This record gives sequence, C-alpha cells and structure tokens, in this order.
Amino acid sequence: MRLARTCFMATGLFLALGWASTRAADLAVRTPDLADGKAIAEKWCGHCHMTGPGEKRAGDAAPTFTAIARMPSTTEMSLRAFLQTPHVRMPDYHLTRDESADLVAYILSLSDK
Ligand code: HEC
Repeated sequence: MRLARTCFMATGLFLALGWASTRAADLAVRTPDLADGKAIAEKWCGHCHMTGPGEKRAGDAAPTFTAIARMPSTTEMSLRAFLQTPHVRMPDYHLTRDESADLVAYILSLSDK
C-alpha cells in the first residue's frame, strides 16, 4: 500500500516536472545553436551555396552565405521569411522553427556588419 502511494506520488511529481519544463521551454527565449545551423547549412544549402565563412563564390548562380549575410537587406526577419516561402529555384525544406532559427543565426554570424 505504501509502495503504491509512493509510486503514485512519484508519477505525479514526474508529470508536474515534465509540465513545468515544457512550459519553461516554451517561455524561455531559446539560444540558437550555431553549430547546428552550420550543419543544416552544409547539409541542405551546400549543394548550391558556399556556406562557410569567407568562402569565395564557386559557381555563378547562388550567392555565398557570407555575401548574403553582408547584404544590407539581410536581417533575421528577412531570412526567416525567405526560409518560409518556397523559393523558385530552391527546394522547400520544411525546417522546424528551431532549425530555421539555428540556420538564420548561423548565416547572420558570418556577417561582420
Ligand atoms: C538548388 C540550389 C540551391 C539550394 C539547395 C539552396 N539555394 Fe539559396 N539560392 C539559390 C540560388 C540560385 C539563389 C539566387 C537566385 C535566386 O534568388 O533565385 C539563391 C538565393 C538565396 C537567398 C537570397 C539571397 C538574396 O539575394 O536575397 C538566400 C537567403 C538563400 N538562397 C538561402 C538558402 C538557404 C538558407 C538554403 C538551405 C536551406 C539554400 N539557400 C539552398 C540556390 C539554392
């Protein structure tokens, strides 16, 4: 009987903690993960774009990420909007909100403006 009660209480505590941490994650401003953003950039964008810092353009079509980061019109908002709109010559990636945030933060980190 005591064991059952302890189990019951433990479950309750566990659920409460789970709820609290989910709420905290929702409320907290998540710090974007630059390493993750870099990995996403290399995986999904590297076919066409030079994604590394200071890389020179190889092909002629896609601008380098450093060049994109340095454009005066590039902001966190513009990149997010860009990633949410299917692009004519770019596939639609369906990145999660966190993945987009990491990717955007990574691209912006290439700028020295
Ligand atoms: C299939 C090739 C291809 C892939 C893959 C690709 N891009 Fe592009 N991207 C292009 C081309 C080509 C352009 C420039 C011409 C244009 O805007 O249509 C471009 C333009 C852009 C621009 C706009 C720059 C401007 O002038 O405003 C951004 C931002 C961008 N790409 C980000 C990304 C990101 C982030 C990824 C990965 C999630 C990605 N691209 C993957 C081909 C690609």
